[in-house]
Amino acid sequence: MRAALLKKYASVGSVQIDIVDVPEPSVNQVQVEVYAASANPFDYKVRDGLMKQTMPLELPIILGGDVAGIITALGEGVTDFSIGDKIYGQANATKQGSFAEYTIVDISQMALMPKTDYLTAAALPLVACSAYQALSHLEVKPHQNILIHGGAGGIGGMAIQIAKYFGLNIATTVSQNDKAYVKSLGADLAIDYHKEDFTKLVKDYDYVFDLVGGQSFTKSYEVLKPGGKIISMVNETNPQLDAKFEVTSIHQFTQVSTEKLNFIAELVNQHRISVNIDRQFNLAETSLALDYLKNDHPKGKVVIQVKA
Ligand SMILES: NC(=O)c1ccc[n+]([C@@H]2O[C@H](COP(=O)([O-])OP(=O)(O)OC[C@H]3O[C@@H](n4cnc5c(N)ncnc54)[C@H](OP(=O)(O)O)[C@@H]3O)[C@@H](O)[C@H]2O)c1
Repeated sequence: MRAALLKKYASVGSVQIDIVDVPEPSVNQVQVEVYAASANPFDYKVRDGLMKQTMPLELPIILGGDVAGIITALGEGVTDFSIGDKIYGQANATKQGSFAEYTIVDISQMALMPKTDYLTAAALPLVACSAYQALSHLEVKPHQNILIHGGAGGIGGMAIQIAKYFGLNIATTVSQNDKAYVKSLGADLAIDYHKEDFTKLVKDYDYVFDLVGGQSFTKSYEVLKPGGKIISMVNETNPQLDAKFEVTSIHQFTQVSTEKLNFIAELVNQHRISVNIDRQFNLAETSLALDYLKNDHPKGKVVIQVKA
């Protein structure tokens, strides 16, 4: 099969399309013929070597996590899925990833696809599960206020729509060009992070969902009410600031799961949420897709079509 192999850490010239063996599923895994995959910041961070200290890998690996496709073989113990099922979920993005014609998925990290095309389904797993996990953890209630940093990105677009579904009032920080886009997703207030100071426009909020980190995280304490919560996909917790502002900070590590994917599929099937695909690439263009996600400010998701 053809696969996008990472052979060395570098942003240029490190990913090559090669012919490798089709992987076989182990216990509680399935083999999937990949129709579509999608790119996440994690993928270019791995490619560029930004994770090599904290997460050393034995190269080469096949990149890519998010996947949608058809089950072609079952590992031992798999009873809930059948050959021919259309599924979406997450492959092992640090070893046997989804930027390939076939991949392996643990049954705990996949579900039956929503009633969409493969590209749409592949765009969903990590970003939608990240947004849903955060909002569930916060136990949000209707009419509460949330500030979402990075609302025009992959997770941000999902978080706005799911927060709207839960009845929240939503402010979000974005670039000026993305204001209309995030309002179309359900944001009540869009703040240009280049020119406007969000701490002057938002006060006494219940929650912050931080997809940016750094100063966006530390300055967010100023906009939370005592008892408020900040959940960050990037920064670690900060006990000193928590104590000073009487706020709880949480670092989230997203776990894609069947339960979350089933919930997301239901929302998609009911047309409560949708995913914006900014641009589509093919497998041979994997590294270009990662460059585009990293450098070109996409609205929503960048996807890779593997099989037409
Ligand atoms: N901990 C985990 O388990 C986990 C899981 C998934 C993702 N993540 C991390 O979560 C982060 C977000 O992921 P994603 O998929 O949503 O990324 P993404 O699609 O690249 O979106 C990032 C967004 O942040 C915006 N942005 C950049 N600087 C900003 C600022 N100062 N204020 C407001 N917005 C700003 C960008 O807007 P412009 O393009 O206009 O600059 C972009 O729309 C990434 O760092 C990713 O690695 C962590």
